[in-house]
Amino acid sequence: MASAASSTAPAITHQIKKGVAPLRVGKGTSFALRRLHSLAGIVPVGAFLFEHILISNSTALSGPEAYARQVTFLANLPLVFFLELLFIWLPIAFHALYGFYIWYRGDGNVGEYPWTGNWMYTAQRWTGGIAFIYIIWHIWTMRFTGIDLHMYPNASFGKVQAEVFQPALFLFYVVGLVAASWHFAYGIWLFCAKWGIVPGRHAQKRFLTVCVCFFFLLTGVGLASLAAFRSRPQQPVEPGAVAMHQMQSAESR
Ligand code: HEM
Repeated sequence: MASAASSTAPAITHQIKKGVAPLRVGKGTSFALRRLHSLAGIVPVGAFLFEHILISNSTALSGPEAYARQVTFLANLPLVFFLELLFIWLPIAFHALYGFYIWYRGDGNVGEYPWTGNWMYTAQRWTGGIAFIYIIWHIWTMRFTGIDLHMYPNASFGKVQAEVFQPALFLFYVVGLVAASWHFAYGIWLFCAKWGIVPGRHAQKRFLTVCVCFFFLLTGVGLASLAAFRSRPQQPVEPGAVAMHQMQSAESR
């Protein structure tokens, strides 16, 4: 009986569908999150990185007073804590955590990594990972531990110096800078390719050169600023000494 039933039952065929599973293409919520991840990399995270390296930190090239003026300006922005939270920390946390998720799932659109393919794909993930470790450490040491730079902006040059005078930490700064700069510069290229802002193979190839130049600009200005911190004598970082130093320089003016 059983054998009769099995002989009359229709044959079950498991058909393997060709192509990428629908979920992996990124539809619905996943599509929106991918777009948001992509956009957050440019605004506000990328815009912040641009400001941080090319505007704020480059004032170190003009010395401790110029740097302290810039930190004072930033520290006195209205509702500064909420500005940092909404436009820096939360967007970075979202872009980074969703970035790790994309990395873990192996998502990616090969069409968007056309020329050097896998190298660029891998570099985009590793530079993001390195930047993440660096950013967490940098926010922790600069913003949440040691002397409070929002209360004592004049200690900011000295606080950075105390780190970059240590060879291992200096190296960490350089690695973090290069990783974040590459990730952002190549990220601009990816963004423009994905959103159709730079369409066509030739235009994209030319635009890649522009993005590589931008990487060198970010890295060059960042390295020059680091060199500026190392080229001056160590500035005070204790609250009492900072206040004294501030009074002395006001008197000598
Ligand atoms: C320095 C801070 C960062 C900036 C300025 C930044 C910026 C960008 C930009 C502009 C893109 C291109 C957007 C696109 O793919 O359309 C991008 C892509 C990406 N980012 Fe970031 N990012 C930062 C940190 C991170 C971190 C910490 C991670 C964590 C791993 C990460 C992971 C990724 C991944 C995986 C992609 C590629 C997405 C894809 O291939 O579709 N990013 N980033």
